[in-house]
Amino acid sequence: MSVLVKNALNIADLRELARKRLTKALFDFCDKGSEDQINMLANRTALDNIKLMPRMLRDVSGRDPCIALFGKEHSLPLMIGPTGPAGFVWYRGETELAKAAAKANIPFTVASTSNTPMEDIYQNGGGTQWYQLYVWQDIEASLVTAKRALDAGYEALVLTVDSPVYNNREIDTRNGLKFPPTISTRTALDVMLHPRWLFGTLAKYYLAEGRLPAFSNIHIPDKQKANAKKYVSASTKGFLNRNETLDWDFVKRLRDLWPKKLLIKCVLHPEDAATAVSCGVDGIFVSNHAGNVNDCAITAWDALPAISDAVGGKLTIIADTGVRRGSDVIKGLALGADVVAVGRATLYGVAAAGETGATRALEILEAEIRRTMAVMGINQILDISRDHIRLPADLPVSGNSQL
Ligand SMILES: Cc1cc2nc3c(=O)[nH]c(=O)nc-3n(C[C@H](O)[C@H](O)[C@H](O)COP(=O)(O)O)c2cc1C
Repeated sequence: MSVLVKNALNIADLRELARKRLTKALFDFCDKGSEDQINMLANRTALDNIKLMPRMLRDVSGRDPCIALFGKEHSLPLMIGPTGPAGFVWYRGETELAKAAAKANIPFTVASTSNTPMEDIYQNGGGTQWYQLYVWQDIEASLVTAKRALDAGYEALVLTVDSPVYNNREIDTRNGLKFPPTISTRTALDVMLHPRWLFGTLAKYYLAEGRLPAFSNIHIPDKQKANAKKYVSASTKGFLNRNETLDWDFVKRLRDLWPKKLLIKCVLHPEDAATAVSCGVDGIFVSNHAGNVNDCAITAWDALPAISDAVGGKLTIIADTGVRRGSDVIKGLALGADVVAVGRATLYGVAAAGETGATRALEILEAEIRRTMAVMGINQILDISRDHIRLPADLPVSGNSQL
C-alpha cells in the first residue's frame, strides 16, 4: 500500500487522492450527482442531522460487527454497491473492487455498465458477488445478460428500478464526458494534466487489450451488431436507452426466471416495498442512486423508517447514499436497514490506488464501525435499534432550530 493511501485517515482523504489522479471529467462523474446536486447534499445532511444516543458501561471488549446475510456470514454490516464502469477509473477496476470486498468478507455488486467481462470479475474477484441489471430497450437482450450472470455464478441479481429514462447529469455534458473517453481539443488538456490516469489506466488497456475499455456485459443482439460501436459508446439514443415500459409484471417475470436471490434497487416508498414483498423479492435497496437520478426525491434515510416499519423482517433491507463514515453505517442500521452499502467511498479508493485503495476505504470504515460500536455500548449488530438514534424532531434544541 502506497504511503499516501496508507496515510489516508478517512474517506475524504481518499476522495482527494482520486481527485488528483483522475481527469476532472471522470472525477466529476464519480463525485457529483444530477442537476443541482440537491439530493446528494440532502442525503449527507439527513445523515448528519441524526444524533447517536450512546449507552454506557456495557463491556464492549467482545463487540462483533459480523452479520448473517442470505444465510452467509459476513464480517461487517456493509457492502459495495454497483458503481457503473469502474474500469474507467482503474485498469479492470471492477475486479479490484471485488478483491477488496472479498478480502473484507463483504458482498460486492457488479454493475451492468461495468467494463470488465462479468465472468472475469467473478472468477478473479472471489468472495460474495451480486450482479446489477439495467433493462434496456430490448428486454429480451437484457434477460440474456441476466442468464449470463446466472451461468457465471453470481449469487444475487439486483434490478435497478428508478431509471426508466436517462438521468440528467448536466456536469458530464459540460465536461464533455463520453464513454469510452474521447480525446478532443476540449478534453485533451484535462487528460494531459492527469498522466497517472492516462498511462496507468487508459494506455494499459491499449497495451494489454489493444482497445479502449468497452461495456463488456451488455448483450447486443446479432441484428444490431452492425451498430454495436454506436451502442457501446453510451449514446443516449438507441439500444442503450433505458426501458420506459417496466412495471411490476416484469419483476414477477424476473422472479420466475431468476432462481437465486432477487433484489430491487432504489425503492423509496413503503407501498413499493410492500409490493416487492408480494412479488417474492428477497431484498430491496432503499437508495437514491448516489443522487444521480431524481434530484428532488426524498432521501434514503428519511424514507427508511417507514419502509422498515412496512416490510422489516419480510425481506432484507439495504440502504445507501452519502455514507462516508462508520457512524453513518450505525445510523442506517438504527433506522431499520439490515446492511448499509457504499458506492463512492470504495470508488474513490479504487480510483486512487486500485485494490489497495478500495481495501484502505474498507479498513477505514471497519475501524470507524468498530469504534462507533464501542462508544455506543453496542456489542452485536442485531442489538442496534431506533433507540440508538435521535432524529431532529426528537431533539428539543436542534430540532426547534429547524423550524
Ligand atoms: C459513479 C457511480 C456510478 C453508479 N452506477 C450505478 C449503476 O450502474 N447501477 C446502479 O444501480 N447504481 C449505480 N450507482 C449508485 C450506487 O450503486 C449507490 O446507490 C450509490 O453510489 C450510493 O451512494 P454513495 O456513492 O454516496 O455511497 C452509481 C454510483 C456512482 C457514484
